[in-house]
Amino acid sequence: MQIKKATASASSNIAFIKYWGKKDEEKIIPMNTSVSMTLRDSVSTTTTVTFSSQFPKDTLVLNGKKEVGKKLEKVSQFLDIIRKKFAVHEHAAVESQNSFPTGCGIASSASGFAALAMASVEALGITIGKKELSALARRGSGSACRSVYTGFVTWSGSFAEQIYEKKHWPELRDVIVIIDAEEKKMSSRDAMKRTVETSDAYKKRLTVVDDRVEVVKQAIGQKDFPLLAKTIMEDSDELHACLKDTKPNVKYLTEKSYKIIEVVRRMNMDQVIVGYTFDAGPNAHLITLEQHVESVVQNIKACMGDVSIIIG
Ligand code: DP6
Repeated sequence: MQIKKATASASSNIAFIKYWGKKDEEKIIPMNTSVSMTLRDSVSTTTTVTFSSQFPKDTLVLNGKKEVGKKLEKVSQFLDIIRKKFAVHEHAAVESQNSFPTGCGIASSASGFAALAMASVEALGITIGKKELSALARRGSGSACRSVYTGFVTWSGSFAEQIYEKKHWPELRDVIVIIDAEEKKMSSRDAMKRTVETSDAYKKRLTVVDDRVEVVKQAIGQKDFPLLAKTIMEDSDELHACLKDTKPNVKYLTEKSYKIIEVVRRMNMDQVIVGYTFDAGPNAHLITLEQHVESVVQNIKACMGDVSIIIG
């Protein structure tokens, strides 16, 4: 019997311009263009997929723990898309391991579905191009379509594309400050749907976000750190303002998140050396250059006490 098994790894990514809202809920087509940087191995997922006619159903082991609930359901639905697309009938055993501690509050759906898409097609012996792979990963989770590439990536429609290789600006880092390890109460999927349906601030965002995308692309292209930092903070602030304007409102930022924003402001008094950005959770992503990582970490620890920090 032929063994259909493969292992693949993908890193998570941090959005400089956030994807928020879908034009098509089922196919996961985004309302707006997003721009991201794929992170390093410190924030990655490695997944092994085995397809076999002997398996009566799909199974999932995540960080050594057998999953049966919602997580397995999401993976199984994604495998259904693959089975339908490539006329495959076998069930699969999926084993997935994150490089970061379990339950540390870092979302793993981007790296998770990118690695799952890669390992699945490889296990099935299917050769597809990067765009098709990105489009496939998108069906698991929108942000995953950006994680099939390294470097700097943009996503507008059905697939993401690399705009600059990692080596274009290798000094850029994401200092991730874990201030809450709890799993978020409201998923980004549910929250973004509610924002699209109820927020006027979000309608306004859609009219300005494309210009901001161009500014971020320009800042990356010219390696203009102050411009990049200023623009990503603006975009993060706008996203969380839209969440505040969502009815009923959605709050991901906590007092500690705001405290970090204050620390960033203080660090940038003389010279802009760091920019904050927050996804659908309270943990801060502090974008900075390699030469400032140590000082950013020291400043955060001095104000926040002994928080966990991962450098991505
Ligand atoms: C705030 O990709 O997790 O991180 O497509 O519904 O699975 P689904 O959502 P998801 O949303 C990510 C939202 C974000 C911004 C971003 O990464 O662009």
